[in-house]
Amino acid sequence: KVYRASTTAPVNIAVVKYWGKRDPKLNLPTNSSISVTLSQADLRTLTTASCSASFDGDSLTLNGQASDISGARTQACFRELRARRAALEAADSSLPKLSTLPLKIVSENNFPTAAGLASSAAGFAALVRAIANLYELTDSPSELSLIARQGSGSACRSLFGGYVAWRMGDKADGTDSKADLISEASHWPNMRALILVVNAAKKDVPSTSGMQQTVATSGLFQQRISQVVPANMILMEEAIRKKDFPQFAEVTMRESNSFHACAADTYPPIFYMNDASRAAIRAVEAINAQAGKTIAAYTYDAGPNCVIYFLEEDEATVVGAFHRFLSGVSGWKASAAEAKSSVEL
Ligand code: DP6
Repeated sequence: KVYRASTTAPVNIAVVKYWGKRDPKLNLPTNSSISVTLSQADLRTLTTASCSASFDGDSLTLNGQASDISGARTQACFRELRARRAALEAADSSLPKLSTLPLKIVSENNFPTAAGLASSAAGFAALVRAIANLYELTDSPSELSLIARQGSGSACRSLFGGYVAWRMGDKADGTDSKADLISEASHWPNMRALILVVNAAKKDVPSTSGMQQTVATSGLFQQRISQVVPANMILMEEAIRKKDFPQFAEVTMRESNSFHACAADTYPPIFYMNDASRAAIRAVEAINAQAGKTIAAYTYDAGPNCVIYFLEEDEATVVGAFHRFLSGVSGWKASAAEAKSSVEL
């Protein structure tokens, strides 16, 4: 007999950035963060989890390729989920003993893996949710986020749609370092995102090691976690609650800049943005100057690709400007395909 459950998880793009671990083993962050979840119609991971006595050990297939499951992060997720299932089985002897069966996980992204488009976030969130469904766990998304966090920090924010906060917590065991919902997507239904892909190749410095180097060597980073982020968390939550786009946009852009400044202040320095990325920043500034108000915001993660936030009513202006911009700047892949990945949030 094979037991099976499937699920999807969305990509999230941080507007207050997670960058830095205070405990690399438990994946506990040096600061809280906030993200916006992108529409699953455009960007998502689809994962099927099955278990059976007939399987030959645990396995994980990612986009059609066998993937290593021996890593500490995947093992931590498997272990935590099995422990929760085992607790249910111990309480109710009529339940099938799934916790001891080998697991087979098959996962597929509909976007480039490891291109700085937060694939690990959707990936681990889908893995945790799929196994939780298979095991019929009753844990809330916030409780599951504790497990997903151990797979990849940003993954804890992909257990929800809409606007999500990852509260850093202060306990040493990490039991209070989890995600919660700020607002459903429907709270701000006209929010849109445009993904600009300049380079879909694998990024140079993986975020895991990049952030450790920043924590160890950047002086600027200390100011970021003690002052910049705490203030931005308050401003961003307020902007989302009030649906204040100019405030949302300014904090988003300042956060991106602050994170990349800390990357550059790492020794040796880390550069995720390239000339094309910087040209897109200038394009956003030009769009906002032309409009006489802030109608577009850029943000960059650990790679050169760009996410632009804007409101539906400004779609023609913003997307139109980027069509012209993309055709004029070498580096960005030809426009139409990317510009159409304007996604509903
Ligand atoms: C720049 O979640 O990929 O995207 O916890 O080591 O897996 P690990 O790191 P990861 O880092 C994401 C960093 C970021 C900012 C963010 O998503 O908040």
